[in-house]
Amino acid sequence: MSTTLITGGTVVTASGTLDADVLVEGEKIAMVLARRPGLEVTMTADRLIDATGKYVLPGGIDVHTHMEMPFGGTSSADTFETGTRAAAWGGTTTIVDFAVQAKGTSLLATLDKWHAKADGNCAIDYGFHMIVSDVNDTTLKEMDACIEAGVNSFKMFMAYPGVFYATDGEILLAMQQAARSGATVMMHAENGIAIDQLVAQALAAGRTDPVEHGLTRPPELEGEATSRAITLAQVANCPLYIVHLSARHALEAVAQARDTGQNVFAETCPQYLFLSIDDLARPDFEGAKFVASPPLRPKDHQDSLWRGLRTNDLSVVSTDHCPFCFKDQKELGRGDFSKIPNGMPGVEHRMDLLHAGVAAGRLPLTRWVEVASTTPARMFGLYPRKGVIAAGSDADIVIYDPQARQTLSAATHHMNVDYSAYEGLEITGRVVTTLSRGRVVIDDGTYQGSTGHGTFLARGLNQYLL
Ligand code: URP
Ligand code: ZN
Ligand code: ZN
Repeated sequence: MSTTLITGGTVVTASGTLDADVLVEGEKIAMVLARRPGLEVTMTADRLIDATGKYVLPGGIDVHTHMEMPFGGTSSADTFETGTRAAAWGGTTTIVDFAVQAKGTSLLATLDKWHAKADGNCAIDYGFHMIVSDVNDTTLKEMDACIEAGVNSFKMFMAYPGVFYATDGEILLAMQQAARSGATVMMHAENGIAIDQLVAQALAAGRTDPVEHGLTRPPELEGEATSRAITLAQVANCPLYIVHLSARHALEAVAQARDTGQNVFAETCPQYLFLSIDDLARPDFEGAKFVASPPLRPKDHQDSLWRGLRTNDLSVVSTDHCPFCFKDQKELGRGDFSKIPNGMPGVEHRMDLLHAGVAAGRLPLTRWVEVASTTPARMFGLYPRKGVIAAGSDADIVIYDPQARQTLSAATHHMNVDYSAYEGLEITGRVVTTLSRGRVVIDDGTYQGSTGHGTFLARGLNQYLL
């Protein structure tokens, strides 16, 4: 079994920092040995990695990605191969992607389809959630079979009528089924019925620019849907996880539910922490690069989201990575903002952007690791295999230079998309080395991974439930 010794670094976990060396044996962490003055321990290994002056982190876990997802008349631009490679460049060693049930099809056939897309193609480990877009007796029964197959989180939509939208009754039925089986329902909480009316009004008035995407999806309609989802989950006694929370209004509803002890959790994404509706309003159709749902909000929502991350009303930061090229894909919506494919790239930059938050004093160092790795692992049944630097855990390890400077740009990123939402942004911090199950994937600016190294992760229960 090959061994790797990471020396001289500061191990950062959700619970603290430790000057320690880490010994990896095969795919697992064998030992974390604290360095103490006067205590000399000599270890040998096949490979030595000097992490002096660097952080040694558990690999990032991005629980919200959409690789090669059919959506908006096209397909997201990263395949499992290109998207997982880009993730590794940015220090993410696990993704949980969404299998998408098309109306009229079965959940299990959908799962097979997503396995076929991912198997043998991923650079890092991966799991699946299931998007339920067709609630019927068969689907409800199949939810249990999905759980057996390691997929125990189901995303539903209060938005996109005619596509993914589920009625309150359908949501309640799926929540009751999930509650019986110990699964978590993930909710896209926007009032899609009301939004569609606002969209129709904007188009009828000749308002067609990308900024209208934001103006027709006001934060109140995210807040209302979030409250409604929470109420339905309460009635069904079902754990609820609000995805891609963007608005202060929704955060208030989540905080209130959590204060009562309800099993309600939420994630936000870097785009809502760093970008705003001003980006959607960029001229010459540039705003299309920033079209995602929920939309980017006025800047003053950002402070609330950073605060929510510190108070744990927001437990996770994922990316909702759903890239569409500007050319030919975003351009489908020239002259009609409602035809711009919804989604933004980001899987490569989540760890870096959150570290920028640490450097700016918005997030404690240990909280960075918690929201980007440890809590996602616990929330989605991967802990302690993933999400921690500890003996026995998978050797998914990131060596991170907190002093390095970098400028984010489409010219240098590795995602298969022709623009960066953060073009020209200068940040402090950079991944030096990424290990996935003991194997070096990124080594100081070179890719050393291989397609197919990543394996499917059958996930267990949400560990935050009583
Ligand atoms: O605009 C977005 N968020 N696209 C991806 C699909 C979703 O709703 O998560
Ligand atoms: Zn969504
Ligand atoms: Zn999404």
